[in-house]
Amino acid sequence: MEPPLEVIRFEPPALRVLDQSRLPHEERWLDIRDIDQLEEAIRALRVRGAPLLGLCGAAGVALAAEADAAEAPLRAAAERIGSARPTAVELATGAAACRDAALAAPERERAAAAWAFCAAYLRRRQAEDGALARHGLSAVPPGDVLTHCNTGTLATGGAGTALGVVRAAHAAGRLERCYVTETRPLLQGARLTAWELLQSGIPAVLLPDTAAAALILSGSVAAVVTGADRIAANGDTANKVGTLGLALAAARAGVPFFIAAPTSTFDPACRSGAEIPIEFRTAGEVGGYGDARWAPAGVEAWNPAFDVTPADLITGIITERGVVRPPYPAAIAALLRELQLE
Ligand code: MRU
Repeated sequence: MEPPLEVIRFEPPALRVLDQSRLPHEERWLDIRDIDQLEEAIRALRVRGAPLLGLCGAAGVALAAEADAAEAPLRAAAERIGSARPTAVELATGAAACRDAALAAPERERAAAAWAFCAAYLRRRQAEDGALARHGLSAVPPGDVLTHCNTGTLATGGAGTALGVVRAAHAAGRLERCYVTETRPLLQGARLTAWELLQSGIPAVLLPDTAAAALILSGSVAAVVTGADRIAANGDTANKVGTLGLALAAARAGVPFFIAAPTSTFDPACRSGAEIPIEFRTAGEVGGYGDARWAPAGVEAWNPAFDVTPADLITGIITERGVVRPPYPAAIAALLRELQLE
């Protein structure tokens, strides 16, 4: 499945990315030439979504190698970019893998080796998204789907994860419409997912986050499918805040709740969700959006960017290798062993 739009380009010595903070009203490409610029773009969610963050982490190493390809600065750059946001494991693992690929080359060839790694990584991601969507198609029951946040091309560079499954289901005539939560406070659902779906000709129905439980209990959706930022060894899954509420409502209603994520999202170093670092963001992001302010100045906020859905609420984890089913600890360990042997 081809990605319907281009969101990232490796054009040595620059990284070019679509500025997601401006969408859907303005399609502006950023020309990123150093890791200061890249770090700002990641923190401001100009680029976002766990798999795309992995690609950006790798590109950060390539940008750093353009400036100084000696070992110590490359290690420092991978560390810095890899920790620009804490929850999506692939940001750090993407940076580390590119660092290792670059360091395997002689110093004067390291920048080229890093850019070549980035290009291959994007091709692999696109192939993985296609395989994941095919597995999703056989796991998710026919009918309309509710999704959360943005897991499309904007979030992966490929066809998407949960949204890739939606695309495949629509193409197969198994789904008429996709319900999209607005995803407060940064509105990834309303701004990005609704835009991607409409561009692809897939009917999208937008709902306030607060309406999601009522929608699920009304019997209007056959499944809830979301992405993931990090999956612990026991299957507990961190994803955009609000995912946990959807999973609880789905369990109450007997509606299947799926996570769709590439195997690179598993982090066996986290034994359970309690060990997943959760990013907290500013009160300003809850008290307004852009220039509009609706909360009184000075009010405090509790603003986690992610929450953790316990494994026992997850029907299955759709990956590019197939659907992982409970009991998760054994199934995840077996899958990771298989990947290690390759
Ligand atoms: O804060 P964001 O927009 O980076 O959060 C994104 C999500 O939570 C996505 O659901 C997740 O990264 C999976 S993207 C395929």
